[in-house]
Amino acid sequence: MLWPCAAVAPSLERGSQKGKSAMNILILGSGGREHSLAWAVKQNPKCGRLIVAPGNSGTAAIAENAALDIEDGAAVAAFVQEQTIDFVIIGPEAPLAAGVADHLRAAGVLCFGPSQAAAELEASKAFTKEICAAANAPTAGYAVFENAADAKAYVRAEGLPLVIKADGLAAGKGVTIPQTEDEALADIDAMFGGSFGAAGASVVIEEFMDGEEASFFVLVDGETCLPIGTAQDHKRMGDGDTGPNTGGMGAYSPAPVLTDPLALQALDEIVRPTMAEMARRGTPYQGVLYAGLMIKDGIARLVEYNVRFGDPECQVLMMRLGGQVLDLLQAAAEGRLSEAQVNWADDHALTVVMAAQGYPGSYNKGTVISGLEALPTDSKNMVFHAGTAAKDGQVTAAGGRVLNVTARGASLADAQARAYAMVDQIDWPEGFCRRDIGWRAL
Ligand code: AMP
Ligand code: GLY
Repeated sequence: MLWPCAAVAPSLERGSQKGKSAMNILILGSGGREHSLAWAVKQNPKCGRLIVAPGNSGTAAIAENAALDIEDGAAVAAFVQEQTIDFVIIGPEAPLAAGVADHLRAAGVLCFGPSQAAAELEASKAFTKEICAAANAPTAGYAVFENAADAKAYVRAEGLPLVIKADGLAAGKGVTIPQTEDEALADIDAMFGGSFGAAGASVVIEEFMDGEEASFFVLVDGETCLPIGTAQDHKRMGDGDTGPNTGGMGAYSPAPVLTDPLALQALDEIVRPTMAEMARRGTPYQGVLYAGLMIKDGIARLVEYNVRFGDPECQVLMMRLGGQVLDLLQAAAEGRLSEAQVNWADDHALTVVMAAQGYPGSYNKGTVISGLEALPTDSKNMVFHAGTAAKDGQVTAAGGRVLNVTARGASLADAQARAYAMVDQIDWPEGFCRRDIGWRAL
């Protein structure tokens, strides 16, 4: 059994007892982010039937998994009709950028996640820069180029440090911070040469911002902005922030560097003006806005927007928010955020990513993970599945990032101790994790 303890079962029963008022919910995605969303949503008594598409072996234990091409809006809309789904929550950026939310809304389906036009805030870095300029939101200075010669001339004229970005979606890999001018010129050639496909048809070159990064998560219903938490991620593979970049090796919430006054500044100077600019252009934003911020000398500037929850940041946010998340996401989708309220516990959550040895390079699949059955699964301790499969009654690794070992505590140190106590009970010789998640805040 992947889900040995009954922590989630009671609310499931409440959901089904509610009969008609229970909502049938579909979550799109298959990572640890979607497992944590499903886990939190399911704790809400309003949740009836819960389907995750395509899901993973963690979601299979608490919901129904469904095979579905989640980037095909017509297919998702047809599935929703067939299964009488009341509410769709879109996890990853790809279906958002593909316009799945537009398809669903056109079919009259309640849906959490921005339109294709609003998802440009993640799908095009040049677009985000233009919106920030129009909204006067603090961010790095920039220039956009359509050819290598002009981009190279700019690098030679400006000199380093600079940040070079493929304009479009590049699975988190389209950003370089070159150490030498030669490297910068080579990066430009690689981007225009197609190393990121169509994403590199335009290249954005930015001023390098120094400081500490933190993530700010805000729900938006087109008009109202409601902050739901802060987090910090660990992008590098190795302890002490060394080694290659990854999708994220661990996270914690809240991020102490993002103090209340700073969060308020980011809300007033960055998030609200950019959201107002989106509405003014006729493309209001609805969903969760993930603002990556750079903090220096008591000022936050925008690094980037993502139009979805971070992964693994979502896991720590869900751990802290629990079942109220369904009410909040529904309020955002229905344009009722001005009536919504977040109930905060003064607590901390931390997640440790366990990855297959070799990640973020090549790694083996199919290795067996043991010891999960003995772990607690309750509102303070959860192992979210990112890339797992079930085989012959065993859990096996099926991806690079495989497990998100997540704990809540009264302090960050407490959450960290709980999370690593769980990690130490997991028997998976072919896996690894960082041992220092949370170090910056501790
Ligand atoms: P992005 O995909 O835009 O988030 O960029 C990936 C990472 O590159 C960010 O999380 C930052 O660590 C770094 N980065 C991006 N833009 C800048 C910038 N203008 N100055 C400094 N670091 C940056
Ligand atoms: N953890 C970084 C991201 O989700 O983009």
